[in-house]
Amino acid sequence: MRNKVTVIGAGNVGASTAQRIVEGGLADVVLVDIVEGLPQGKALDLAEAAPVVGHGAHIVGTNDYADTAGSDVIVVTSGLARQPGMSRDDLLARNAGIVRTVVEQSAARSPEAVIVVVTNPLDAMCHVALRASGFPVNRVVGMAGVLDTARFRTFIAMELGVSVTATSALVLGGHGDTMVPLPRRATAGGVPITELMATEQIDRLVTRTRNGGGEIVSLLKSGSAYYAPAAAVYRMVEAILQDRQEILPCAAYLEGQYGIEGLFVGVPVRLGRHGVEQVVEISLADDEKAALNASAGAVRELVHVLDSLS
Ligand code: NAI
Ligand code: 2OP
Repeated sequence: MRNKVTVIGAGNVGASTAQRIVEGGLADVVLVDIVEGLPQGKALDLAEAAPVVGHGAHIVGTNDYADTAGSDVIVVTSGLARQPGMSRDDLLARNAGIVRTVVEQSAARSPEAVIVVVTNPLDAMCHVALRASGFPVNRVVGMAGVLDTARFRTFIAMELGVSVTATSALVLGGHGDTMVPLPRRATAGGVPITELMATEQIDRLVTRTRNGGGEIVSLLKSGSAYYAPAAAVYRMVEAILQDRQEILPCAAYLEGQYGIEGLFVGVPVRLGRHGVEQVVEISLADDEKAALNASAGAVRELVHVLDSLS
């Protein structure tokens, strides 16, 4: 049977994600947006690229959730993107309403799907998606850690002048200014970066990673990053559809793991056909634990704001 992925939001991240999925031959895609003509136009354009690229995946654009029925994965990118001077948290109330509506409509038609949330503020939007879908916690997961980790690796490779493929890293915590890059676990060619760089260099890369989204926003002047985010979503959707049991940093609902209860926070998870198959607990140094708790605290504050709005 062919896999089916619904991508909600035909903007920069949604359309780029749809393109990666069909051109990677991963699944058929239904691209949904509230704006009439936008998903239809982008889907037709992508369909017309198929003979050139040489893939057989189907893509349709629609404003009607009936077309999304029976999806294996629902990717939620609908919402407003950050503008210069706007924090992720400013987006909270506006995007909560959008995410609630689109998840209610799509989850009802694909009750077995895994939902991958992208809309910001990411961790809080995962809570909205969980509540709106009524799905079990393993089938709602947020994309942030794969992106934040990719940024950290990119900056490490740039700093050392080495291939990015030789690097590995891990970023935990909420997708915001309090995210927790872990230099202790970052390597280049298997060598810890703590042995390759001075503390000041590492601190600079950590700060740049935390500001990674904002750096792109200020360069673009309008809108936010989408190539790397779409690549990160693709990696997660691939892990889910192909039941890869891959360990990736994602926003997952914690039920006591890392001492955090009832909150979506970025941690390593094992991703497979059922979504989050396992939250992987790694040992953290005291300062790392404190930073993760502070980040979780920032997410909890947003969830409280959300609760006060509803
Ligand atoms: P965009 O503005 O290009 O696209 C958003 C799309 O959502 C638009 O086409 C809009 O018409 C659509 N939309 C709005 N309300 C809708 C509704 N009720 N139903 C269906 N569609 C609706 O924005 P972009 O760049 O694609 O970003 C999308 C979201 O993803 C933003 O919230 C952004 O902050 C977030 N983001 C999150 C990342 C992460 O790491 N989690 C990375 C990059 C972006
Ligand atoms: C990013 O990190 C805007 O959250 C988005 O690029």
